[in-house]
Amino acid sequence: MPAALLGGTAATPFPHRDEFEEAVTALVTASAAYHNTDDALMDDGEHDHLLARIAATHHLHPDWDDHGVLTSVAPGAAAGDVHHPTPMLSLDKVTTDDQVAAFVDRLGGADVVVELKFDGLAVRAGYKRGQLVLAATRGDGTHGENITAQVLRRGGIRGLPAALPRPWTGEVRGEVFLTGADFATANTNRISHGKAAFATPRNAASGTLRKQHLHYEVPMSFAAYAAAGAEFDAIDSHLERMAVLKTMGIQVASALTVGSVDPGLRIRCTTTEAVRAVIAEIGERRAFMSVPIDGVVIKADSRAARLRLGSGTLAPRWAAAYKFAPDHAFSVLRAIEVGVGRTGRMSLTAVIDPVAVDGTTITRASLHHVAWVTGQHLGVGSKVAVVRAGEVIPRVTAAVGEQPEGVLPWQPLPACPKCDQPWDTTQQLWRCSTPACSLVSLLTYAASRDVLDIDGLGEEIATALVDADLVRDPADLYDLTVEQIAAVVYSRAAGGERASRRIGEATATKLVAGIAAAKAQPLARHITSLGIRMTGRSVGRWLAAHFGSLEALRAAGVEDLASIDRIGPAKAESIHEGLRSASAVIDRLIAAGITTEIEKPEAGEEVSLPWTGKTVVITGSVPGMSRGQAQEAAVRLGATVSGSVSARTDLVIVGAGTSTRSKLAKAEQHQVPTMPAEAFVALHADTVNR
Ligand code: IVH
Repeated sequence: MPAALLGGTAATPFPHRDEFEEAVTALVTASAAYHNTDDALMDDGEHDHLLARIAATHHLHPDWDDHGVLTSVAPGAAAGDVHHPTPMLSLDKVTTDDQVAAFVDRLGGADVVVELKFDGLAVRAGYKRGQLVLAATRGDGTHGENITAQVLRRGGIRGLPAALPRPWTGEVRGEVFLTGADFATANTNRISHGKAAFATPRNAASGTLRKQHLHYEVPMSFAAYAAAGAEFDAIDSHLERMAVLKTMGIQVASALTVGSVDPGLRIRCTTTEAVRAVIAEIGERRAFMSVPIDGVVIKADSRAARLRLGSGTLAPRWAAAYKFAPDHAFSVLRAIEVGVGRTGRMSLTAVIDPVAVDGTTITRASLHHVAWVTGQHLGVGSKVAVVRAGEVIPRVTAAVGEQPEGVLPWQPLPACPKCDQPWDTTQQLWRCSTPACSLVSLLTYAASRDVLDIDGLGEEIATALVDADLVRDPADLYDLTVEQIAAVVYSRAAGGERASRRIGEATATKLVAGIAAAKAQPLARHITSLGIRMTGRSVGRWLAAHFGSLEALRAAGVEDLASIDRIGPAKAESIHEGLRSASAVIDRLIAAGITTEIEKPEAGEEVSLPWTGKTVVITGSVPGMSRGQAQEAAVRLGATVSGSVSARTDLVIVGAGTSTRSKLAKAEQHQVPTMPAEAFVALHADTVNR
């Protein structure tokens, strides 16, 4: 990353020359690894911090040798033998609101486009008469490496076709990246070949594109942000050029911005306020996007405006990068906590040295499973990468860099820490079959907003109720009295310590009221709250919709269950078994007076439901509603909610989120009408308030 990216960062200069030189050497080594290999020696935060200190020092001592780290587009990057007639530049960085305003001012009223800044590898691809004939990395900006063979390798790269639908000659520039799902697949494939996992999606893209021989699959995607060629040079607007690229089957960054963030989000802006609003919106949704981004790029839309502003040697003056806080960081593994999830599955949590990810300090991250941890030879003291990608909780993705000596590989204990019974290790995900061990997880899951929505039943209270032997299964909740709960002593985190206190009458009264209110939750949620293996919220809804009542569901055989779309024989078997073992609990739930049938409209109301008989798919996030609430809202309008778009779908509701892309493509393919999420919210509000 060149100094131009550093904006006005106030970093501490190195006081001594030898420290400066050491930092330059470390940075060049890490940067070379970053650009040329799949090794990760330094995380982005550490890299940027070091570079800022080098820049600050160099400012005071211009004669000290920075070995090009401050003046090159990509320090340490291998310059190959493909010449870039138009150099592949870097981007200046804007970090503050004022700098965003100054950038917009500089454009003097020209339209600004805000695009996702993909965190992958910059690639230039040349087409001749519709055939991809050349692909090259950025390299040092003027010479890159030839990666044509890698790009054309079996399977290719999504969004960068080997052959176009028409004989176009020209070039596209863009970023090759891995989606969250592809990153997971790539690591699974790599591990099964006995290799260490990739630390970040970027490492995966960069390492893979450089490898001549690949023995495992790494699925990748491309997003274009520039095009040149005869017909393109006549189009002044960047967005219009991108629209033409799209018609040739090339994926474009600007469309991903629209599609993945909000179909209604205007990424072409004219004011600073509008630009800031789009940046803020993208920043908020970033953790849940399936594509890896490290910021946004703000750029002039018009070529005339771009030519007027021109370029420096390192970066154009018509574009700038606004970087978000890094979504990954390296830390040290200090312990692995073993727990039991709501369906009895072993859960592993890494306790790590505090580190900043996505702007917050984290000390815990999830880990895959036993075989993964042992396969990666992780142990206390291992240096690990944690990444927040498409999920709320960061995950340990890989061991990184050189591992310190003396790390003892972690070995799981053969028995569950709660009940001391041996784990069931017949599957990759180990399980504990003692119901009490998963009970606390199950109770807190059942109490969560999208299931029974019982306020105040968090982990501490649930643990106390289980420890006091007041709750042995979910049905026991409904028998609890205020007196019983009030007397229970629980351990509470307070000011970094744990303190013991009675739950007390006020909390107990609220909890009992919450539990009583939960009885009226829809049947689907009660089914979900049973914690049967392989049934989450969606399956709960399918079962409720299909069988209509708890009685009918209990009477269902394996075949009845398997007759539901998307429930295969294995799932049907497992649900059947789960229902059988929950039989006594179900009896007591019915006796407690929970909802046992799906909500039926009152007589005369049926006709007025707008979506009776319609199959609806919801994709992306619906404003003001959780996923579960949105599905319930659609059901309230009379619809049957399905998870995937097919010829039988009647309507697709489109909210914000990257998952919308493939569903929108399917909707188009089957000519299924779509409705913006906002319109759905309005229709729902109108209908239920009538
Ligand atoms: S515009 C400099 N748009 O960011 C030439 N760049 O430091 C104009 N990048 O490696 C670049 N997403 O590959 C542009 N939507 C986007 C981008 C983007 C990612 C990368 C680019 C380059 C780096 C610039």
